[in-house]
Amino acid sequence: MTSRRLFVTTALPYANGSFHIGHIMEYIQADIWVRFQRMQGHEVHFIGADDAHGAPIMLKAEAEGVAPEQLVARIAAERPRYLKGFHISFDNWHSTHSPENTELSQDIYRRLKANGLVYRKTIEQLYDPVKGLFLADRYIKGECPNCGAKDQYGDACENCSSVYSAADLKNPYSTLSGATPVLKSSEHHFFRLSDPKCKAFLKQWLETPGRLQTQVVNKAKEWLEGEGDKALADWDISRDPPYFGIRIPDIAEEKYLYVWLDAPIGYLASLKDYCRKKKLDFEKFLSDPKLEQIHFIGKDIIYFHTLFWPAMLEFAGKPYKVPDNVYVHGFIGISGEKMSKSRGTGLDPLRYLELGMNPEWLRYYIAAKLNANVEDLDFNPDDFIARVNSDLVGKYINIASRCASFLTRKFDGRLELPPATFDFGARLFGLRKDSLLAEFQDRAAAIAEGYESREFGRAIRDIMTLADYANQFVDNRKPWELAKDEKNDQQLLHVCSVGINLFRLLTIYLKPILPDLAAEAEKFLGIPALQWSDAKSLLGSDHRIRPYRHLMTRVEEKQLDALFEPPAEPQATRSPQTHAEHQQHSAKEHAMTEQISIEDFNKLDLRIAKIVEAEHVDGADKLLKLTLDLGGETRTVFAGIKQVYAAESLKGRHAVVVANLAPRKMRFGVSEGMVLAASGDGPGIFLISPDAGAQPGMRVK
Ligand code: 2FM
Ligand code: ZN
Repeated sequence: MTSRRLFVTTALPYANGSFHIGHIMEYIQADIWVRFQRMQGHEVHFIGADDAHGAPIMLKAEAEGVAPEQLVARIAAERPRYLKGFHISFDNWHSTHSPENTELSQDIYRRLKANGLVYRKTIEQLYDPVKGLFLADRYIKGECPNCGAKDQYGDACENCSSVYSAADLKNPYSTLSGATPVLKSSEHHFFRLSDPKCKAFLKQWLETPGRLQTQVVNKAKEWLEGEGDKALADWDISRDPPYFGIRIPDIAEEKYLYVWLDAPIGYLASLKDYCRKKKLDFEKFLSDPKLEQIHFIGKDIIYFHTLFWPAMLEFAGKPYKVPDNVYVHGFIGISGEKMSKSRGTGLDPLRYLELGMNPEWLRYYIAAKLNANVEDLDFNPDDFIARVNSDLVGKYINIASRCASFLTRKFDGRLELPPATFDFGARLFGLRKDSLLAEFQDRAAAIAEGYESREFGRAIRDIMTLADYANQFVDNRKPWELAKDEKNDQQLLHVCSVGINLFRLLTIYLKPILPDLAAEAEKFLGIPALQWSDAKSLLGSDHRIRPYRHLMTRVEEKQLDALFEPPAEPQATRSPQTHAEHQQHSAKEHAMTEQISIEDFNKLDLRIAKIVEAEHVDGADKLLKLTLDLGGETRTVFAGIKQVYAAESLKGRHAVVVANLAPRKMRFGVSEGMVLAASGDGPGIFLISPDAGAQPGMRVK
């Protein structure tokens, strides 16, 4: 087999929020594929970066009173914890806010322009006269021009589902300042995606066999071949200041490249940074005809990766190359609850790690649920427990633990393969092969195919079928019985040596998913790092194993309970959202909750409190520990506002507290109440404070 040269990426996460389980799922998927390719002996360069630019990041930084660079740096600093924690083996992590990305983005822009694919056009857009910026649809609300429903977003009505443009809203307002937006014109730069040469290229690119999943081709072709008001539109690639982004080169005016233009170029920027570190020639590397460029992404960003991105690369010309594959996955939900891209779900990956849960449990579970289709998958806690405990601990690990001790105790760890006449009882399992070992070895190709085609669930089913055979073999040959009489020693040695060899083969097959466990197993087996081709060989009489130590513990129900405890703090970090997500959760937030009586309301004991102390909490990213004076009574409250308020700025401020909330035990101590704050669809959390004169302890009614 000739060796491949692979440049593999995952979608670049916005640098304004922590990773959520959706990110981690994508990284796990790509990482398993990458590790499998490495085990095949291929050359893999696995590249990631932060997507640092754009209006939401700029606005969030502003709300926090920090420079966007600071916000982005803070988020970047937390990345390694997650990536290491879940064994994601990126070879490089960089940022789109980097000299490499500026250079590459400006270069690609210039080449597209030289190719006649960039033009300028003056357009009218809604502008926030108070904030002094043009408003994307997500920052404009007003009354639906069709049904009159209030507080509708600038592109579609949640009440009557009609679609319109923001300028049609009645009584529009900016969600950033509340001001009435005004129409203002500005010259924008457009990428001529509708150019016949672009469309012809994209058609051919999309239809190349093996490049994309069928569902993805169909979706992209719908956009490409749309007609009338669905016709493929040119792409607005410029933004006016203020904007956190890359300057459009060679023009006098201050204009920026739209974040979605520079974001995918960030793949190349990170690669370039990596090439420098590795002393590789970036252009030569990209120009290598053997190089395969492969992107793993989620289904929400297909448009960008199957239309804009390949077209940009194609018409920028060499050394840039078009992607060879774009592999699309669905979303992850928790127990049937859909995930919101901005909020993630109830499964906080950092909490998972902090609880000391084994990252390989999650890798295994996600792998078991993944296939090559664009399908959503569901994390179900009971299913998780069952799979991990029965498959990994009950089946796989069990084989080693059942055979190892006899070998160490009686044979000093020495192995010995049985003669050809040995009865494996293979017929018991309905296998054609007489030798279970040969059967296991023969399955390497089919399992490899499962990994290669991202049918991880299928690969796992194949592997677990083998694990069942191995356990049945041990059940039938009962080493614990054989061990009772020394005259069976030879047989015992053979049975256990077979068992250990079966375990070793399963370890090879599971290694892309369970890298740490495999490393421990390699130590126990006393062998160097396993490669896929090692499945061709067996451990024989020249080999000794080391004493067995338990390789994996079982997951306990209480760990899952702890994982899904209600979040300790409000979500203080958000990422930009697609229209659909916006609709999804703004619908939730704006649907007012059911009516309550005044008696119900009176049950709430809201009090004015003075913040006498605000402190950082070791190990908490979002929490501040507040000491509150409620008019003589002192309370401790943990508030999830660290990302938006500097602790020092809070001392002496007044706040409103729910004083009769049952105390809640949190990871860092007991919280004796809750501080009220406002939050909406945009970035930011805003503490509620009383007008001057209100005193600590006063009741709020
Ligand atoms: O949707 C997102 O989260 C984007 N930050 C993905 C960018 S992928 C690539 F283009 F950088
Ligand atoms: Zn409406």
